[in-house]
Amino acid sequence: MNKLTAAITAVGSYVPKFIMTNKMLEDIVETNDEWITSRTGIKERRILKPDEGEGTSYLAIKAAQDLIDKKKLDPKEIDLVIVATATPDSMVASTAAFVASEIGATNAFAYDLLAACSSFLFGMSNASGYVASGKYKKVLLIGADKMSSIIDYTDRTTCIIFGDGAGAVLFEPNFEGLGLQDEYLRSDGNGRAYLGMEGGGSIMPATIESVKARKHFIFQEGRTVFKFAVSNMADVAEKIMVRNNLTHENVSWLVPHQANKRIIDATAKRMGLDDSKVLMNIQRYGNTTSATLPLLLADFEGKFKKGDNLVFAAFGGGFTWGSIFLKWAYN
Ligand code: UT7
Repeated sequence: MNKLTAAITAVGSYVPKFIMTNKMLEDIVETNDEWITSRTGIKERRILKPDEGEGTSYLAIKAAQDLIDKKKLDPKEIDLVIVATATPDSMVASTAAFVASEIGATNAFAYDLLAACSSFLFGMSNASGYVASGKYKKVLLIGADKMSSIIDYTDRTTCIIFGDGAGAVLFEPNFEGLGLQDEYLRSDGNGRAYLGMEGGGSIMPATIESVKARKHFIFQEGRTVFKFAVSNMADVAEKIMVRNNLTHENVSWLVPHQANKRIIDATAKRMGLDDSKVLMNIQRYGNTTSATLPLLLADFEGKFKKGDNLVFAAFGGGFTWGSIFLKWAYN
């Protein structure tokens, strides 16, 4: 029997119905469609309104249910549910545990994985590791974020970028050499000065002062983050290519975190990739943090062929970043 690997065997997704366009943002902050489009590539983003549902778990459950329906999966067979997120329903109680119960994954254990915009990428390492070790057979990895819950809609440098959404993938054993091949994952804690949320954690619990000072919203020093993201995402993607003998010809698809079209373009350029191989949906969803990678897989699933070489790359708060090489396992 061939070596055991862990492959993605199904995907699902969900985005909220409400579309917030660049034009709408013009009425909220001092900005304009032309600036947002040319600096980021974003045209619109989805926002979860209270009349549709609440919290990140709502998005995660919908994405998981989409996958379960498409795959005709019995949720009782799922061994583990990981929710990759930067916006858990609440602190302490596991969002993933609630999601697992709601989707009927009653035989699974569940936990959240928080690594900002790299949460889903790091989650791929976790999920595939459990399967490739032979420990578990069905691991459901969900990337979900309700970024609108931590966005300051008076801060034009952050509110234009982020949106809400969720995507899910199932990892299962593979004996054809497909699935996750290699990973290069990194972090640098000095980055927390440039991108994060000061309030609400153990350093700065919520007080009247912290709320008044708007410390419970995400902040970023955009230009600095941009510089780190451009060079680090390209570095790790290049490293993954070199050590796996990948070239611009045999890479089928780049699956990049959707934070800014200019960061994606720079990464693709360093990899020598033609635009046609670069997956992008940032124009419709903005930066959905942990959901960007699985939303790409869901949107472009129809284009993938068994054996295709996919290179994932992400960069996020912390800083956290990395790249993963995965062979697609189904048509
Ligand atoms: O996923 C997690 C990781 N996050 C990222 O990767 C985000 C990385 N950063 C970025 O994508 C970009 O830095 C931003 C999109 C956030 C900003 O774009 P930028 O090209 O770096 O703009 P900037 O911060 O250098 O600002 C340029 C100008 C400034 O005006 P002055 O000082 O030149 O007069 C800003 O005040 O643009 C101004 N500006 C805006 N103007 C219109 C900043 N935000 C806006 C806005 N609308 N929304």
